[in-house]
Amino acid sequence: MNYKNYISKKLNIEGVSPEEIESYIVLPPDTSMGDFALPCFKFAKILRKAPNMIAEDLKNSFKVDDVITSVSAVNGYLNFTVNRSSFASSVISSVLSLGDKYGSANIGENKTVVIDYSSINIAKPFHIGHLSTTVIGGALYRIYKFLGYNVVGVNHLGDYGTQFGKLIYAYKHWGNKEEVEKGRIRELTRLYVKYHEEAEKDPSMDDEARSYFKKIENGDEECLALFKWFKELTLVDVEKVYKELDIHFDSYNGESFYNDKMEPVIKELDEKGLLTLSDGAKIVDLSAYDMPPCLILRSDGASLYATRDLAAAFYRKNTYDFYKCLYVVAYQQNLHFKQFFKVLELMGKDWAKDMEHVAFGMVSLEEGTMSTRKGNVVLLEDVINKCKEKAFSVINEKNPNLENKEEIASMVGTGAVIFGALSSSRIKDIVFSYDKVLNFDGETGPYCQYTYARCNSVLKKGGEIGEYTLDNLNEDEYNLVSELEKFPSVVNLAHEKYEPSMITRYAVDLCSTFNKFYFDCKIIGEEENVKNCRLALTKATLITLKNALTLLGIKTPEKM
Ligand code: ARG
Repeated sequence: MNYKNYISKKLNIEGVSPEEIESYIVLPPDTSMGDFALPCFKFAKILRKAPNMIAEDLKNSFKVDDVITSVSAVNGYLNFTVNRSSFASSVISSVLSLGDKYGSANIGENKTVVIDYSSINIAKPFHIGHLSTTVIGGALYRIYKFLGYNVVGVNHLGDYGTQFGKLIYAYKHWGNKEEVEKGRIRELTRLYVKYHEEAEKDPSMDDEARSYFKKIENGDEECLALFKWFKELTLVDVEKVYKELDIHFDSYNGESFYNDKMEPVIKELDEKGLLTLSDGAKIVDLSAYDMPPCLILRSDGASLYATRDLAAAFYRKNTYDFYKCLYVVAYQQNLHFKQFFKVLELMGKDWAKDMEHVAFGMVSLEEGTMSTRKGNVVLLEDVINKCKEKAFSVINEKNPNLENKEEIASMVGTGAVIFGALSSSRIKDIVFSYDKVLNFDGETGPYCQYTYARCNSVLKKGGEIGEYTLDNLNEDEYNLVSELEKFPSVVNLAHEKYEPSMITRYAVDLCSTFNKFYFDCKIIGEEENVKNCRLALTKATLITLKNALTLLGIKTPEKM
């Protein structure tokens, strides 16, 4: 039973469709006022009436029935009380019967969404700055799948540019195969730093490096092989972390993949009269849109980041015919995306409106910021490992006899990192603190995992769930049902707003509602009907919590 839908159909508001009314109906935070509420402020303009008058009128014309048992008007809100027992049975039976599908939908059927995320740079450290794009993208990937979309995850590798010529120079002068094979990104970074130190003394090195890069572009066998090898080695390191975070890609087509795909785009720009010459460079003038020009070709004929993104957009449209193409990239690149989307629009591509820059804020470590240039970056792998170690010591202290401590500490540590990165709305800057993300009593991953393990242990002790009715729910029980009911709409909203943090917040709310119920209501030892009803609520919580955490990429240990 969809209550919001049911209520909206019983209301008649001139000029407002039932669908729109349904979208405004909320679950009040305090259920003593009612179980559902319709804020009437939105209608004041159309109806030319004060919200409290609208609520009053709607109340007077509303016919209560077996489902909606009473209605009241308070401060511009229309509050509805439902038949709680039928509400509860409909929610609980749908959670229990749908299981790991609860919250899913098929609204994405026959629609493809391309998600460009993580998009690391080859031969560069995979550091804490990559955390957000990786876990936000990973969560969106799973959320879209859960809603029935075809999803294509793309790691748009940063594998193009003169830095790869420099790397070849450095490798040939100071590197050797064994060391590079052993050290991978670490060794490649060392070589790169060494190059810059030396090039400061001898600027002619840059010419040589540039010519190596040209060789890569022209398909020179030796240079191309070295470049491919650097790429493979980088991915070996990075994939370890992806595995840990449960991150998946369907394509690793990076910037260099578009080497031979830019030509037609440049031609089309030219034919459409969009290219202007400026100091020898070819640009698209965007001054009419209050933006600096979008650089397409440098005066030496080299392409740019935006040129490759344009080619990638065409390639993705042609290959996947996407419904949406998302770019999970830091807000520092706001201008780049605005420019590049505008260029597509000026080219007359109506699908430019389906491209979305899913921007996010910066992550810094509490212990002090980092600097890439000096090479002292904080590796994501190290952050995860430190969290695992810390989780292990907490678990060891709280529950020394737990089996598989290592494995569980690993789920908890990794979960803490992911949850921490997805805790606040994505545009906010985050200061990452080990103590904060690992606080078992805070709004954290471990808190949710601990609640999950608690549900599991209650169900183990309770045994099989016998017959029950949901007739006389107390406030704690009803609040839990009401919280469980929200999950599908939270998932839907998270997908509409590209905001996985809505699911982290939901998980915390669900856990605190469950924990209040757990502390207030005895379960084992109660009479049969009450016990079974509470066990069913616990099972529904376990299922919903698992679905929520799984969407975020967080594992759910049975014991903790
Ligand atoms: N590699 C880029 C960086 O580290 C991010 C690429 C994002 N994706 C894109 N299609 N531009 O800044």
